[in-house]
Parts: sequence; C-alpha cells; structure tokens
Amino acid sequence: MLAAQKDAVSSSEISRSEVSRELMERFSTARRESDALFDLVRDESLYERPIAERHRIIFYVGHLEAFDWNLLNDNAAGFGLRSVNPVLDRLFAFGIDPVGGGLPSDVPSDWPTLGVVRTYVSDVRRNLDATLDKAILDSDSQGRNGFPLTALLNVAVEHRLMHVETLAYMLHQLPLDMKVRPSVMQIVPPYKASGPFGAAMMPVSAGPATLGLSRDSASFGWDNEYEAHTVDVPAFEIDQYKVTNRQYLEFIGVRGYDTRDLWTDADWDWKSANGISHPKFWEKQERSSSDRSSRPGAWLYRTMFDRIPFEDAEVLNWPVYVSQAEAAAYARWAGKSLPTEAEWQRAAYSAPDGSARPYPWGTEPPNASLGNFDLHHWDPMPVDSFARSQSAFGIHDMLGNGWEWTSTAFAPSAGFEPFPFYRGYSADFFDGKHFVMKGGSSRTASCMLRSTFRNWFQPHYQNVYVGFRCVRR
Ligand code: AVJ
Repeated sequence: MLAAQKDAVSSSEISRSEVSRELMERFSTARRESDALFDLVRDESLYERPIAERHRIIFYVGHLEAFDWNLLNDNAAGFGLRSVNPVLDRLFAFGIDPVGGGLPSDVPSDWPTLGVVRTYVSDVRRNLDATLDKAILDSDSQGRNGFPLTALLNVAVEHRLMHVETLAYMLHQLPLDMKVRPSVMQIVPPYKASGPFGAAMMPVSAGPATLGLSRDSASFGWDNEYEAHTVDVPAFEIDQYKVTNRQYLEFIGVRGYDTRDLWTDADWDWKSANGISHPKFWEKQERSSSDRSSRPGAWLYRTMFDRIPFEDAEVLNWPVYVSQAEAAAYARWAGKSLPTEAEWQRAAYSAPDGSARPYPWGTEPPNASLGNFDLHHWDPMPVDSFARSQSAFGIHDMLGNGWEWTSTAFAPSAGFEPFPFYRGYSADFFDGKHFVMKGGSSRTASCMLRSTFRNWFQPHYQNVYVGFRCVRR
C-alpha cells in the first residue's frame, strides 16, 4: 500500500483488514491441509471405514464443506446464497458420537459417488468464496447472533483443522496398501535420546492454576473455554516426561492387562469384551512369518506409513499412546494417578512465583524447535527431544508429541454459553462419559496450542494420539 493511501485509512481499519486477510489465508491453508490428507488415500479406498465407530472416509470429504456451508450461509450476514445441493448439505452435516449409539451399519453404495462428492466440494467452495471475499472486508459484517464473521471463520478453520487431526488417527488405522506415502516425507534428524526415562518426578508447589478464556479477550476460543477462572491446587509431584513405550512395556511384562485390581469394573468389561491386551499402536510380529528378518513374538510399532521394530527409531523412548482406561490402569500399578485438568494446567502454565505464562516455555509462539506439533511429523518423537520446551516447573513436552489424559470429566465452567450457531459442539458431550485431554499431538495445528483449548474423548477409544503422565499427591 502507498504511504498516501495508508494515511487515508485509520489504524483500526488497517488492523481489521490485516486480521481478515490473515484469516482468509488460514482458511485456504486449512483447505490445502485437508485436501492433502485425502490425497493420501487411494481413490478406491475412500469408501473404507478404518475405525468401526466412525463414518466412512468419504463422509468427511463432503462433511468439511457442508459444515462450512451450513455455518456461514445460515449465520453470516450477506450470505443467504442458493445451495448447490441441499440434499448433500444435510447428508454431510453431522458426524457421529461414538458413545452409546451402536456401530454404524451403512454400506458404500449408500453414499454418493466420488465424482458427485468432489463436484459438491468444488461447487461449495466457489459458491462461498466470492461472497466471503467481499463480506470479510466489510467491517460491519456481523452474524445473525451478533457474532462477527471473523468468529465464524475461526470456527470453520479450527473445525477443519480438528478434523485434519482426527482424520490422521483414522488414516493411521487404514491398511498400509490403501495409502499413498506423501512424496515429501519430513526427514527426522538422527537423534539419540538420553533415556531411559522413568523415575523422575518434579514437585509442583501449591498455588493457583489459571484456566479458561475471558469474554473480554480479543482472541478466539470455543464455547467450552469460557469463562476465565482460577483453581487453587494443593502441592503434588508430576512425571517429568510423558510415560514411554519402554515404561508401558514393563507394565505389559508384569501382566498389567490381566491384573483385575488395576482396572475399574467398566474398564475391565470393555477390555475383556474387546479382547484388548496392548496399545492399538503396537502389534505382535506373527509367529508364522517366513520373512527371515522377522523376529516372531517381537513388538512392532504401527507408524503412519510403516511397521517398525521397537529397537528402531527410538520407539522405546516415544510416548505411549493409549486409551484413558489403559492410562489409569498403568497409573494405579505405578502407585500414582492421572492428573486433574487443574493440576495439568498448573504444571504446564504456572510459575513458582504465582504468575502464568501463555506457553509452558514462556511467551515465544510455537515453532518446530519447541515441540512435535503443527503437522511437521506423522509420528511421535523421543520424550526429551525439546529441552527448551520445559515448563517453569521443569516438565518436558507438555505441548505436542501426543495429547495427555486428565482424570477430569469434560464439563462446562461457570459462565458457559453454547455458541448459538453450533449449540452441540461441547454441550452434547457434557455427559460424564468424556474426559479432558490437554497438550496436543504432532497433528495438532499451532492455533490450537493455546492454553485454554480443551480436547476430549471417551475413555475407551484407543485411536487417538494421546498418552499421559502421572502425578503423586
Ligand atoms: C473436539 C476432537 C473431540 O472430533 O469429536 C469435530 C471435534 N466436533 N467436529 C471430535 C469435532 C465436531 C471433536 N473433538
């Protein structure tokens, strides 16, 4: 912009248009990320259902666009456009809650053809974009409920990026021969962990944990992040590192999965009914294998694009990914517990002097030298990979390299209000059957690494990039 033009525009307008431009940029980046993910699946495999509780992959191809369309066209001023396909707008509107509803039983032929879905995707984008470009620059652009268009766009961007992560879990479970390796694989530098890790716990003094987002904040947050509040947390100790595959292997070695006392009734029933005896990311090498290089009975790790022996790539020093039920059983065996959300928050963001920081390491925005997050890597890394990421209490890897389970049931904070344009986003899950996860994984976009972001899943779901660390009170 020329200096003369600049003078003519008030500074608040400049910053508003910069915010809008950046948001539009993030919207197209998020679309490229989701497109790239679907490109990893061979066309003929797009009607597979890699996780029994979830929809077939094809649903998500349509869903990401139907969501944006329904959100913006129903709620943003100046839209009210004509739908390109009202039937698909409804068909692809909502995902499914995996708890209690029974498994879906649809067949591939219940879904529109790939050609129809792909046309829907490009038509919706074209239809939205012309209006969006104009509306975003209109400073008075308010939604019907008084939410600015920028808030709706943040919802669209983060919704898509959350699916980019949950779709990665789903594609992780897709048989390897149905996937196409990305042409450029991120090179992970040769790395020697200093482990084994295990015993070290760090003391966290009694004091406040700062949770939630203030309504006065200019930053975007989801409905469940409000209102800001503090919780007084008694002193406790917390594992300095996430629990590793090596530590978890020891629990398996002492027959932790067969020890009744370590499991609650519900967790034991779930484990027995499903014949679960190890983390879903582990696989026992088959005894009948004729491959000379194979070692029957040895553990393999199921990475996104390979199966690798535990000795390779420092797998033993990676965080273990497990359901909350498996994490809690390990914690009981170790004579410890899972942290509450407030304990986790204090360990990550509070300092001994009582102050709070925006990130565990301080104020520097997330970047690739501070953790395994923001879509750089597909798989975990050793738990001591980012020395600079330590929290004020000296705890490693609180953000990235796998979410962490807490023992806190997902519930509203005082002051919670559902978003009028998406009432069920959180409220549908305040059922005591979902638990808060904090932190982030290698597939969590950096915008969701803010301290107030809360993730949640049910305790019997093994597919998530989530591990844990334990506390002692
Ligand atoms: C916040 C990750 C638990 O995937 O179930 C996506 C996000 N909600 N579409 C989920 C979500 C609706 C949600 N999690």
